[in-house]
Amino acid sequence: MSAARRPLVAGNWKMHKTGPEAREFCVSLAALVSDAGPVDVAVCPPYTALEASASALAGSPIAVYAQNVHENEKGAHTGDISSAMILATGADGALIGHSERRAEGDTDAQIALRVRNAIDAGLMVVLCCGESLSTRQAGETEAWLTRQIRSALEHVQAGDIAHLVIAYEPIWAIGTGETASPEQAQEACAIVRRVASETIDGEALRVLYGGSVSAANAAELMSQPDVDGALVGGASLEPGPFAAIVAAAR
Ligand code: PGA
Repeated sequence: MSAARRPLVAGNWKMHKTGPEAREFCVSLAALVSDAGPVDVAVCPPYTALEASASALAGSPIAVYAQNVHENEKGAHTGDISSAMILATGADGALIGHSERRAEGDTDAQIALRVRNAIDAGLMVVLCCGESLSTRQAGETEAWLTRQIRSALEHVQAGDIAHLVIAYEPIWAIGTGETASPEQAQEACAIVRRVASETIDGEALRVLYGGSVSAANAAELMSQPDVDGALVGGASLEPGPFAAIVAAAR
């Protein structure tokens, strides 16, 4: 992890926690990470818990990001929500392009537009990318990541750097308990940084690793030079283990 890049640890709750459950979690987490030191911390609740989370974390250093955002500002998009709606809950950012969203049909073109429009609206964006096991076994990880990053950054400009983070999440490591080795995470995050450097200042870009990150493996993963933090799923659902991952990033 480079000293120039402030680490980020974000917890992706996926489809877990109601509003009241989120509030209770956030109160506990805020007590555990009242001073995260030189680490940025965020939680990513479901849409229905954004407002409860943001109000419980007001005045704390912990940010709130949504798990997705629609590319349009308003309109006939049943079941979707806009950047302005997310901001109005008190949340600060959004994940975009998570592999679970891509698997449910979010397209490369939508993801590129979402990144652009979310940044324009003032959201912090955590763009997700990552290869499947078959892509890795075929030796096509680099080509896959290159294509995903170039596509997602199609409408991004150099000046967007302060609003963009990229998370490398190999699909085979998500929710499986199988973590990329520190070497695999380093290699892939370096590829992400190199490809993103075609568009923005790669040296300033924060690249996270995600996929079965836990308190036990976080420090080693985040000690890699191109890994600037973690996007954490399962291990972010309880305040104690998540706070331990934050502590590992210090
Ligand atoms: P996991 O999920 O930590 O449970 O593997 C990570 C993610 O999908 O962001």
